[in-house]
Amino acid sequence: WATFIDDIEAIERLKAEHDAVIMAHNYMTPEIFHAVADFGGDSLALAREAQHVEASTIVLAGVHFMAETAKLLSPQKRVLLPDLRSGCSLAESITPADIAELRRQHPGAPVVTYVNTSADVKAASDICCTSGNAVEVIESLGVPEVIMVPDQYLAQNIAARTGVRVITHPGACEVHERFTPDDIRDIRDGNPGVTVLAHPECPPEVVAAADHSGSTAQMQSFVEVNRPRSVALITECSMSDNVAAGHPDTDFVRPCNLCPHMKRNTLGAIRRALETGTHEIELDPDLVEPARRSITRMLEIS
Ligand code: 13P
Ligand code: SF4
Repeated sequence: WATFIDDIEAIERLKAEHDAVIMAHNYMTPEIFHAVADFGGDSLALAREAQHVEASTIVLAGVHFMAETAKLLSPQKRVLLPDLRSGCSLAESITPADIAELRRQHPGAPVVTYVNTSADVKAASDICCTSGNAVEVIESLGVPEVIMVPDQYLAQNIAARTGVRVITHPGACEVHERFTPDDIRDIRDGNPGVTVLAHPECPPEVVAAADHSGSTAQMQSFVEVNRPRSVALITECSMSDNVAAGHPDTDFVRPCNLCPHMKRNTLGAIRRALETGTHEIELDPDLVEPARRSITRMLEIS
């Protein structure tokens, strides 16, 4: 931590000077998540919190779609993303034209879009969901069939938990798609009694081999409530580091894959964002209303 002190002190000073808060996704490294973030959570919690932030500037320590979501829900605020290259393989896997084609092929089926998408894709959708509320959102629609984009694995995992027919799109998270059932078997062989929690962006065979599945916040709650002696969180690397900090009695087995986009957030990048006011998120005015509608419909339900 000694190497971080200079940046942490500068960031705290800059936050006060610029009336800024830092909202951090659960995949931020601990020196960001525990030392400088004012609020941390999963995609759903970040979206909810963006509606209530009082400061005039939000620094979104996460990826581009999260900063866009914050801007959509807090349009009067300045939203900064420390590194504009923080993308997401899911967001890149789909365009509004893909949604138009899916609607043509499946007339009448509503489009449920994961928040891990760009604003123009949200604007072309009927409603958003996160990994924490997807079943609730789909079942709220009261229809026999939905189009769920862009994560094929999330869609398949959610389909297994509802009677609604789910039409998918071939997107995947480059972090979670790499986990295999063999990884889970090796973890169990090497750690008898371990509880395995898999993120629903993992392939269905991986989720089936796990004990439970849920969003990053649901993984954290599971550990808080059940206090397992030993746990493996099948997700991005920083998740275990952040949860482990509050649970010294739990052994965290750490198979993990890094998200290169999340890891573009560093203390240095956050400090620069506050010093220079970059990179400010701007939205196409024509997209704001329809994209916000898809997110607020979701927030009203969950
Ligand atoms: P949640 O934190 O909502 O589970 O999302 C995980 C993720 O991959 C975000 O990019
Ligand atoms: Fe996208 Fe996966 Fe990285 Fe999340 S972890 S930002 S879903 S690539």
